[in-house]
Amino acid sequence: MEITILGIESSCDDTSASIIKNNTILSNVIASQSVHEAYGGVVPELASRAHQQNIIPVVDKALKDAGIKATDVDAVAFTRGPGLMGSLLVGASFAKGFALSRNIPLIEVDHLKAHVLAHFIKENDEDKKMPSFPFLCLLVSGGNSQIILVRTHLDMEIIGQTIDDAAGEAFDKCAKVMGFPYPGGPLIDKYAQQGNASLYEFGKPRIADLNYSFSGLKTSFLYFLRDRLKENPNFVEENKADLCASLQKTIIDILMDKLIKAAKETGIKEVALAGGVSANSGLRAALTSQAQKRGWQTYIPKLAFTTDNAAMIAVTGYYKYLNGEFTGQDAAPYARNL
Ligand code: KG4
Repeated sequence: MEITILGIESSCDDTSASIIKNNTILSNVIASQSVHEAYGGVVPELASRAHQQNIIPVVDKALKDAGIKATDVDAVAFTRGPGLMGSLLVGASFAKGFALSRNIPLIEVDHLKAHVLAHFIKENDEDKKMPSFPFLCLLVSGGNSQIILVRTHLDMEIIGQTIDDAAGEAFDKCAKVMGFPYPGGPLIDKYAQQGNASLYEFGKPRIADLNYSFSGLKTSFLYFLRDRLKENPNFVEENKADLCASLQKTIIDILMDKLIKAAKETGIKEVALAGGVSANSGLRAALTSQAQKRGWQTYIPKLAFTTDNAAMIAVTGYYKYLNGEFTGQDAAPYARNL
């Protein structure tokens, strides 16, 4: 049986629609919002207004790119949360209206679980190497840092998570302190490639279990720079590469230490990355080197599937469809992790 799913993602500042036939993508359209650049971060009210403008053209293009009509869609999957409430409401309302008008099932999707299932998106009929169960997934994004034990497509357990800032926030907030534009994570990655990662040391947190904390690092970085800038106002400009390399190494060490601990405790050697920060070249390299050392099989998604996209929502919808997990019209979006 072939199942065609329309996926809708609108949890933050990207409006995205994707068509998936079984788990192979036919289209994945993303409209990013440049309106936030001037504000140094996402402005929720502006995000929901932009979603309202984007949603119809984005879905229309996803259908056209896939070469199908609205009547060919068997079910519609949407991000129910977590995310910005005003943004989520646009995608959820659209999905509900679409399902109602076409009389097809509606499927709610948790955004974070969808990031994990991005590993199961196929781009054509090729035999893609996918994680086998159970596997560990390090989910690192602008809003979350979690270690997830994935037992099946739909059975996941968060075994570690940040108690304050996310890894992406640590990158972005430290970048802001250095005067970089938002989001600064990719710039830190870029400058770090020319720097000496062992030149500066920043405090690492002592947090129990498999949990993370990044707020102390941000403060220690801020104080460190404040002292240096008093002596030399050009300190950041003159030491950008070494600062970025040392900071990036600290964040990666924090992430990898707990991931290694999780792998030891569970005995699992299938290890995957997910979320926007998995674009980081240092993190990718660290995962690959640990894999060689520890005999892990690792899975790093294609860049296009690490950031917010509707293909991961649609593929999650596909597995929920197979499992008969449908949603009523009364499903209200949720802003925070369930
Ligand atoms: O998953 P994502 O697209 O969305 C949110 O959760 O908002 O992740 C975005 C985050 C931002 O914090 C951004 O700075 C970070 O991912 N990021 C990176 C890199 N590319 C994106 N951080 C470090 N290095 C990168 N190359």
